[in-house]
Amino acid sequence: MRPLQGCRRRGVVVGTVTLCLAAGWALQTPGGVSLLVPQPNINATVAQNILLSVEYSCRGVATIEWKHVSSWGTKKIVEWKSGNYVNISAVYKDRVTIFENGSIQLLNVGVRDAGYYFVTVTEEYGTNIYGTIIVNVYVLHFSVLPAEIIYEDLHFVAVFFAFLTAVSAILICFMWLCNKFVHLFQKKTHKLTASTTEEIELETIEC
Ligand SMILES: *[C@@H]1O[C@H](CO)[C@@H](O)[C@H](O)[C@H]1NC(C)=O
Ligand SMILES: *[C@@H]1O[C@H](CO)[C@@H](O)[C@H](O)[C@H]1NC(C)=O
Ligand SMILES: *[C@@H]1O[C@H](CO)[C@@H](O)[C@H](O)[C@H]1NC(C)=O
Repeated sequence: MRPLQGCRRRGVVVGTVTLCLAAGWALQTPGGVSLLVPQPNINATVAQNILLSVEYSCRGVATIEWKHVSSWGTKKIVEWKSGNYVNISAVYKDRVTIFENGSIQLLNVGVRDAGYYFVTVTEEYGTNIYGTIIVNVYVLHFSVLPAEIIYEDLHFVAVFFAFLTAVSAILICFMWLCNKFVHLFQKKTHKLTASTTEEIELETIEC
């Protein structure tokens, strides 16, 4: 039971999603709306909270929309117009916090949260601008496992090896004893056969 568990743990996949940058540092459109994406690539580990940080500026009131695109499909995360409404998708209801500058925080990320995050900022007059952030989510099994479980595993392995050594020592002793007995037995039978032939020889001489 125990060694099997160990094997499975060691086999835990290190999940990565390859990246390809597509976002600009700061983009400007003629309409006067701009968007800054200071960190277009985020490396996270499972269960971490991540901040998808952007900063927009525009004339008037803007509408901000965030989408997640991955191999599992495209999902709308949130859309809001500052001072008007905030519309968070049901799946993200308890996991998303929005900020005035257009950033969002995503709580407790999983492997499925890896992928592309597209943010679109739409100005009142219709001009829009978008940015991309690529998120990699890694599964680090050492960070997931409590240290004492690893220690327990090592302890188990040590005990198992000690047991194996003891068993082989006993086996070697046993084989050595067997060998001795076989030798003794062989000597005895040899002596016996030798004496009988002597007797027979003696008998023949008597005759
Ligand atoms: C994320 O990891 C990749 C390698 O997997 C590395 O090239 C990149 O610089 C890292 N990005 C950050 C922001 O740490
Ligand atoms: C946006 O606001 C959040 C929360 O105040 C902050 O942590 C983040 O650094 C800001 N992003 C930028 C690009 O300034
Ligand atoms: C909020 O989202 C739902 C579903 O995505 C949509 O039906 C609804 O019209 C949206 N509300 C606003 C105010 O945008």
